Amino acid sequence: MTLFDHTAVWQAAEPYMRFRRNDVHIPVVYHYANKLAAMHPDCDQEVVTLGALLHDIGWAAVDQEELFATAFKKLVTDVRIQHEKEGARMAREILEDLKLVPAAKIDEICKIIDGHDTRLEAISLNDSLVKDADKLWRFSAVGISISSEWLHLSPAKYIYKVENEREGFLFTDGAKQLGAESLAEAKALLKTAEIG
Ligand SMILES: [Fe+2]
Ligand SMILES: [Fe+2]
Repeated sequence: MTLFDHTAVWQAAEPYMRFRRNDVHIPVVYHYANKLAAMHPDCDQEVVTLGALLHDIGWAAVDQEELFATAFKKLVTDVRIQHEKEGARMAREILEDLKLVPAAKIDEICKIIDGHDTRLEAISLNDSLVKDADKLWRFSAVGISISSEWLHLSPAKYIYKVENEREGFLFTDGAKQLGAESLAEAKALLKTAEIG
């Protein structure tokens, strides 16, 4: 289910999707953002879904070796901050060029992207929904599969982190509901009770 036709934005962002499995991560986050936006009538659905679509394109602008050497070790690293800042700059370029949404929405989307990983608190409902959509990736079988490999953990051990540590912290009720459903599905699919 998608709320808007964002074909032109996907086309503009496509060159930046070939880094850090963004070609899987971004569609999954976008899927959750659409679901969350539909569940929260007070949000701005365009801001939430476009924020999700463009939130990680900045990974294309950072040193790829440094990314994999440092980005998974701790929350705040130079490359992590750089992917947020570059992502906000690149998103602005794409959105100003396409003229799909007014300037105030572009400003809000870029504000959400700048700090989406390293800012632990949410600055608005729209921000909290983008953060939750990003995080819900870790509750999906595909996200568990890729993220567990990045962290050199078995899927079951990665799921333990999501369930018991900050890895799985979610802001909104909608995300908590979706997260519980996705995680139950992933556990059954990946047989994590049988394979530890
Ligand atoms: Fe990110
Ligand atoms: Fe992300």
